[in-house]
Amino acid sequence: MAQMLLKQAVEILKKNDLGNYTVPTHGLYPFQWNWDSCLTALGLAHMDEDRAWKEVETLFDHQWEDGMVPHIIFHSENNGYFPGPNIWLTGSDVPTSGITQPAVAGFAVNRLYTRARDKQMAARRAKTLLPKILNWHNWFYKNRDPNDEGLVAIIHPWESGRDNSIDWDIAFERVPTEGVMPFVRQDTQHTDPKHRPTQEQYKRYIWLVQLFKSLNWDNTRLHDASPFKVVDPGFNAILIRSCSDLAQLAEKLGESDTAKISAHQAEKGLAALEKLWCQNNKQYLCLDRTTGELVNSLSVGGLLPAFAPLPKARMLALAKRIKSIDKDAAYLVPSHDIRANRFDHTRYWRGPTWLIINYMIADGMSQSGQKDIAERIKTDSIKLINQSGFAEYYSPVDGRGCGGYSFSWTAAMVIEFLNCQAKPH
Ligand code: DGY
Repeated sequence: MAQMLLKQAVEILKKNDLGNYTVPTHGLYPFQWNWDSCLTALGLAHMDEDRAWKEVETLFDHQWEDGMVPHIIFHSENNGYFPGPNIWLTGSDVPTSGITQPAVAGFAVNRLYTRARDKQMAARRAKTLLPKILNWHNWFYKNRDPNDEGLVAIIHPWESGRDNSIDWDIAFERVPTEGVMPFVRQDTQHTDPKHRPTQEQYKRYIWLVQLFKSLNWDNTRLHDASPFKVVDPGFNAILIRSCSDLAQLAEKLGESDTAKISAHQAEKGLAALEKLWCQNNKQYLCLDRTTGELVNSLSVGGLLPAFAPLPKARMLALAKRIKSIDKDAAYLVPSHDIRANRFDHTRYWRGPTWLIINYMIADGMSQSGQKDIAERIKTDSIKLINQSGFAEYYSPVDGRGCGGYSFSWTAAMVIEFLNCQAKPH
C-alpha cells in the first residue's frame, strides 16, 4: 500500500513540475507559490536532489530588493487565475504578487542540507541561499515588527496561508469594500465554491491589494497603513523555526555571523510568543495589532507553534490539547475547533485538515519527544490519502477531499511521512 501511495505521489510531482518550479496544481494555481514550493522541495529531494534545490533557488531568484520573497511568482501568462499580474502591478521584471507568505524556506533548506546525499553540492547551494534567507528574515523583523516586539504581523490574510480563517473575521470587518474594482473570480470555476472563501471576503482581499498598490508597494509604509494587522502565532512559529534552523545551518557551514543573528531572532521570537499563550484554552491565540487584544478564536494557528522549538511545558500542553481535539475530530488536525459555531468542515481554512500543517505539527512533536501524537497525526494523514486521494485539504469530519486535486504539497508530505518521519533528522 505504502509503495503504491509513494508511486502516485511521485507521479503528481512529475505532472506538476514545470522545469524550474512546481505548480501547486494545474488549473486552480498555475504559478509558483512561495511556501508551496519550499515544502514541495522536501518531496522532490527524494526523487532528485538537484531539482529540489532548484525549486527553492527559483523562488529566491525573485526576491525583492528590500528582502521580501513574494507569495506568487507569475512565471508565465495564464488567464485562469485571479488576481493575476495585471492586478498586482508590482513592477518586477518577472511579475510577482506584492505580499509574502509563511517563511518556511529556512527550515526546508536546512532539512535539504542535513539529508543531502551529495554534501558538496548541498553545501555550495546552501551557502548561496543562506544570505538570501537571512535577508528575508531581517525584512520581516524590520517591516512587520516596527516596534521591535519580536513578533511580526501579517497585513493580508493571504500572507498567513490560512486565507479565510475564522481568526481574521473580526479584524477583517475593518477592511472596507467601498471602491473595490469590479472583478471576476476564477477559483470558483476550478473548484466547488462551497470549499472556497466567500465573495465578501474576496472584495476585502482585493481592497487591501488596491491600498498597497496605491502606496507603490513600499514596505516601509504598508504595515502602518493597513487596517488589517494580525499577529498569527502559527506564522510567527514558522518564522522562528526557520530562524533557528538557519542558525544551525549557518553554524554547519561556518557562517558564524549569520548563525548569531538568526539564533538571536529565534530566541527573541520565542520569548515574545509567550504573550500569545492562553492559559484558559491551553493554546496560543492571534493578537489583533490594531486593538492590541487577543482574538478568542481556536484555530490550528494556535497549535502550529509546536513546529517551533518551544519550552517543554508548552509542548506538553499542546500535545494534550491535540489529544483532546482527537476526541471530536475523525481526522487530525482540523484547522478550526470543531465545536465553534463558525466551524465549516469543507470550507478551506474554516475547518478542513491540511497535510502540510499536520506535517509541521507532527515534526515539532516528534522532535520534542511526543512520538505518540506525532504518530497519530501521521496515521490520520495517510488514512485521508487512502480514502480520498491527493486533495488540497480534507474534511476532518468525514475525510472527503476538498479544493484542488493532484496537489503538489500533499504529495510531497506523503513522501515525507512515508519515508522519513520515523528516521532521525
Ligand atoms: C488563493 O488564490 O486562494 C491563494 O490562496 C492566495 O494565495
